Amino acid sequence: MRRPLIVGNWKLHKTVGEAIALIEKLKLAIGDPGGREVAIAPPFTALYAVRGALCGTPIALAGQDCHGEEKGAFTGAVSAGMLRDVGCRYVIVGHSERREHFGETDAAIARKLLAALAAGLAPILCLGEKSKDRGRTREVITRQLETALASVERPDRVVIAYEPVWAIGSGTPATPAEAATVADLVRERLAAGWGPEMAGRTRVLYGGSVNATNAGGFLGREEIDGALVGGASLDATTFSAIVEAAPFFEG
Ligand code: 13P
Repeated sequence: MRRPLIVGNWKLHKTVGEAIALIEKLKLAIGDPGGREVAIAPPFTALYAVRGALCGTPIALAGQDCHGEEKGAFTGAVSAGMLRDVGCRYVIVGHSERREHFGETDAAIARKLLAALAAGLAPILCLGEKSKDRGRTREVITRQLETALASVERPDRVVIAYEPVWAIGSGTPATPAEAATVADLVRERLAAGWGPEMAGRTRVLYGGSVNATNAGGFLGREEIDGALVGGASLDATTFSAIVEAAPFFEG
């Protein structure tokens, strides 16, 4: 069994003070996560303070993005090594909002993924089709996955997150069956490229309008290893209920 992972992606929300206040509430609400892995991705400016607030808890820290280069003249960018240095275990790579609003290509995402792995981070690679591509999900996911992982030796060090673009922030999630079908496709492609054992070890999450009510439907599926949560991660009670909807894990 793969260890369930629940990630809260705070996106462009929370000052340092607000972030610490939410972390304190989350710590109380989540308590002992029962072997499930929990990670929080605050904005860059709050990472250092959140790391301090999470000290002594099993909750991990994640970056929301990283640059593909280690260092250099890239004003405004943050490297994977810097995220590792500030205490991150994970970094989200290729989120659809980065693809859409920041013009990130599959090739740029592949470089970021390699940079993250080289820095010792576990990338959370986001894949998902737009609303106009709903009839071609298989094709889109296969292209995004295979381009991003083309030079990766150990895909089991990467977490895959299926986030259909039409489901993000819309209140209309995919069905658990649709998400499971894509998780199966991801493992089928991983098995074809790296063998069934590697495919069996790689975690596939679902993201897109996950909330406390629908989380159990996704997290109860054997194909789905966790959730990438946006809006619902900004409320401690809701987010802890999502964590509790994942199965216990004895590693
Ligand atoms: P919502 O949970 O707000 O739909 O956002 C999902 C997401 O984009 C997480 O990365």
